Amino acid sequence: MKKLKIGFSKKKKKKQKEMHVPEAPKSPIRKGLKIIEKYPLYEPFAHVVIVQNPKTGEYKYILDELQLDPLEQGIYDRILDILLAEIASPKEEIKDPRKFFAEEAKKIVDKYRISLGWLPDVSWYKILYHAERNLVGFGNIDPLMRDPNIEDISCDGVTKPVYVWHRTYESIQTNLEFPNDEVLDNMVVKLVHMGGKHVSTAFPIVDASLPGKHRLAVAYRREITPFGTAFTIRKFREDPYSIIDLINIGTFSEEMSAYFWMCLENRASIMVLGGTAAGKTTALNALACLIKPGSKIITIEETAELNLPHDNWVSLIARQSYGLGGSGIGEVALFDLVKTSMRHRPDIMIVGEVRGQEAYVLFQALATGHGGMCTMHAENLDSAVKRLTSKPMDISPAYIPLMNIVIPIQRVYLTKKNEKKAYRRVITVNEIQDFEKYKTPGKWQPLLDNHLIDFDKSSLLDSIAERQGVSKKDLISEINKRKDVLHWMRERNIRSYRDVAAIIAEYYARPKLTYNKILEGEEIQAIAASKNA
Ligand SMILES: Nc1ncnc2c1ncn2[C@@H]1O[C@H](COP(=O)(O)OP(=O)(O)OP(=O)(O)O)[C@@H](O)[C@H]1O
Ligand SMILES: [Mg+2]
Repeated sequence: MKKLKIGFSKKKKKKQKEMHVPEAPKSPIRKGLKIIEKYPLYEPFAHVVIVQNPKTGEYKYILDELQLDPLEQGIYDRILDILLAEIASPKEEIKDPRKFFAEEAKKIVDKYRISLGWLPDVSWYKILYHAERNLVGFGNIDPLMRDPNIEDISCDGVTKPVYVWHRTYESIQTNLEFPNDEVLDNMVVKLVHMGGKHVSTAFPIVDASLPGKHRLAVAYRREITPFGTAFTIRKFREDPYSIIDLINIGTFSEEMSAYFWMCLENRASIMVLGGTAAGKTTALNALACLIKPGSKIITIEETAELNLPHDNWVSLIARQSYGLGGSGIGEVALFDLVKTSMRHRPDIMIVGEVRGQEAYVLFQALATGHGGMCTMHAENLDSAVKRLTSKPMDISPAYIPLMNIVIPIQRVYLTKKNEKKAYRRVITVNEIQDFEKYKTPGKWQPLLDNHLIDFDKSSLLDSIAERQGVSKKDLISEINKRKDVLHWMRERNIRSYRDVAAIIAEYYARPKLTYNKILEGEEIQAIAASKNA
């Protein structure tokens, strides 16, 4: 093993003990800026200050992180070598690598702190924080990954400020930037490796899934990005938005959700449309939680984003090619996955986002009686159908009505309590009756900010009623009961996707009993069970 030189000379240590008082942190906030709010990210090491430039009105996201002073930095460099050499790989699989690292690092620091020179405890905490952040965390952007208000983090190149998409302030500049190519490239290579992938000048484009299921997209070095390596992270919510959350936010309505629930039970296919970051995947995930438990679900994605409560769920993720020069060797594309998933007998296939030939195979699957859901990058139904029927998707117009429901989602600006903010809304609920023949049983009313639903305009409910041998009136009365179930969950603040799924499962299993209990305000076993789990 590498022999490490760890100590300072006695003379130097004595001098250091007498002298070292950690430097007072410097404020990263420039004079003249107005502080709008402050909040902690990781006490006491990292905080955020949102500031506004009074002249331009522009907001800025200031990351205020405790930095190492020169002496602490020197000891940090030494302890890093020791940690790398001494921390043994865990004997068994560990659930939380950061916790494991923190515990092991603490033991090693306790062993060496005397020989490394006297430092006050506060300096050691800072050193350990930086070591954890850089060795097992996400490096410089680690504090941003802890901010639940951030949706996306993006770096457009070297010496350019990192931008974040903040739930309140939207796209704002941060005070973080990468000073040179080396720092940026090393950090990105590390992130890509954390996602179990490889990036190099030969393979400069990578999509990876980081620990915690955050989606990472990279364009490496100056091969395709003249400003230097660029990356974007779409942060994953561990606790995904449930259908109840989306109703509470106003993206969906109760009645509309009850209608989707009924349609999904009857194997209707649904496509969610929208622009970049409109909330397509989020809506798809929330809707998929309405699928009957026990149904075999196969999800097919480029990077793993979907998070379902179902047990009978297979997740398939595409793989990039290992070959040079576009040879495609070793590639497993969405198209291949959709094709192979047919052989796994799915009840419902969910394709994260259709873009190419995989759409053709998905429609083939719909034609053979499978249920299907997907998202697509398109603003409205007309442009979606145009894309679907042209190359490379090339779906025949006769197949278009196999997609039963299409819901465009948009980010819209609304003024509430004198504050103008972006919200996501389902704009219309469209049913495809035939090629270029659409029905619109639901639409969003911008002035009232609510959804108007008219089941008389639904031909899908007619055909479901016919198939079930019941009247449309009975079907609508069942939808209304489900609406009551959703309303009851909102009233009781049952919102986590697992709790919501537990009530939905209970309703599928014992509809009458569950509904009566809800009417009588009785506690339902499933919630208690899932809460205790
Ligand atoms: N209805 C909503 N209300 C508030 N925030 C939302 C809503 N839907 C999604 N978000 C947030 O917006 C961000 C983008 O959401 P999502 O990944 O679902 O978008 P997308 O349309 O699939 O994006 P992309 O085009 O990049 O695939 C996420 O951080 C998500 O948490
Ligand atoms: Mg998406």
